Amino acid sequence: MLSSLIAPKNAEAGHRKFATGIDACQLTRLSTFGDHRGNLAVIEAMTDIPFEVRRVYYLYDFTGAKRGGHAHKRLEQLFIALAGSFDVILDDGKRRKNVRLKSPAEGLYVCPMIWREIENPAPGSVCLVLASTHYDEKDYFRSYKEFAANV
Ligand code: TYD
Repeated sequence: MLSSLIAPKNAEAGHRKFATGIDACQLTRLSTFGDHRGNLAVIEAMTDIPFEVRRVYYLYDFTGAKRGGHAHKRLEQLFIALAGSFDVILDDGKRRKNVRLKSPAEGLYVCPMIWREIENPAPGSVCLVLASTHYDEKDYFRSYKEFAANV
């Protein structure tokens, strides 16, 4: 499902144009292998997601207080509900959509320039995030007004 966002293998590194806007933020089913021992899910960079993974972080012990509340200039991410469920509210400055993540077998791709908030976690939820760049505070819009003026 994310295949339309993945650059051809011969594309020059660093020259991929980002897909932008809310329609580029897609929920995708991950490749899973299940048998009597349980399930295994796989994410291959540049095959299943359109970016190389440079950073992994995760949210756990959610208190229910809203998280996120920012946008990124260049960062691409894949959000996965490793456990539990929660809402990811996406806003591209024109349109909003609410995606409830509730399965470790699916991932939500979030392109650059999307304001996001994470809300309503079920108890025990864990949100795994694969990120395309190292942490860089300069990549953030932490004010919605500033984000909206730059979309
Ligand atoms: P914050 O951006 O407020 O988290 P959220 O998006 O879930 O609301 O980040 C919380 C703190 O963690 C903040 O001080 C920045 C720090 N942080 C890092 O140092 N590295 C990271 O990769 C991330 C995501 C956050």
